[in-house]
Amino acid sequence: MAEFTLPANSTLKPGKTWPAPAEPKRPRRFKIYRYDPDTKENPRLDTYTIDEADCGSMILDALIYIKNKIDPTLTFRRSCREGICGSCAMNIDGQNTLACLKTTDEINGDVKVYPLPHRPVVKDLVPDVTQLYAQYAAIKPWLQTESAAPERERLQSPSARAKLDGLYECILCFCCSTSCPSYWWNEEKYLGPAVLLQAYRWIADSRDEATAERLEELEDPFKLYRCHTIMNCTAACPKGLNPAKAIAEIKKLMVERRA
Ligand code: SF4
Ligand code: SF4
Ligand code: FES
Repeated sequence: MAEFTLPANSTLKPGKTWPAPAEPKRPRRFKIYRYDPDTKENPRLDTYTIDEADCGSMILDALIYIKNKIDPTLTFRRSCREGICGSCAMNIDGQNTLACLKTTDEINGDVKVYPLPHRPVVKDLVPDVTQLYAQYAAIKPWLQTESAAPERERLQSPSARAKLDGLYECILCFCCSTSCPSYWWNEEKYLGPAVLLQAYRWIADSRDEATAERLEELEDPFKLYRCHTIMNCTAACPKGLNPAKAIAEIKKLMVERRA
């Protein structure tokens, strides 16, 4: 039987319990993954108590509360606070999602917060997404044209524009790619659901004139065909998008171009 062992420095150690606020009206416990590459110590799970009566309702509000009032060293990414920038993606209560869109009310008991899975950790809740962005750049995510530039904008009919619905809304949070088992096992060769949804966004754009080249680029046993329709990606997307469907549409076009 195959035996798997984790590298010694990846084992999670019990962490510190931080002092609770004085006389909290609605205490709530958070267990948060901590990792500091400078100390060379193993990651640990720290326990914090916040007063929900003194804090906004989102998980991101609680993290900001902890950083401002309890432990200024807690590190996480955030920017827009309204589900637009994609930077606060993390694993909350066992699910990849956006901290600014998830409320504490949706979770029973202690709130467990980890970085997005299967990525190297830069610090605490900050994952290293360098590879995902390199894969995104590789699909050339911009309008490619050969025809002469029009005097004004390149026009698109309302029905052609509607084909981009469900695609253009992607905020590149990578909740989907980091929940995809195929991506976990083949992350260097398989592009993963986020990048493939983005690839399809340009393939589906009636104004783009590089469709054949884009499909040719994806015709590879790994880049596209590692998707086995497990659907974790679609279940994980906090924007309600369907990357698995976008991947299926690309596969359909591949069959059509061979016919
Ligand atoms: S449907 Fe494809 S991309 Fe989505 S989780 Fe499954 S294997 Fe990954
Ligand atoms: S498809 Fe959804 S989960 Fe994936 S990167 Fe885009 S917004 Fe995030
Ligand atoms: S802070 Fe921008 S998506 Fe959460």
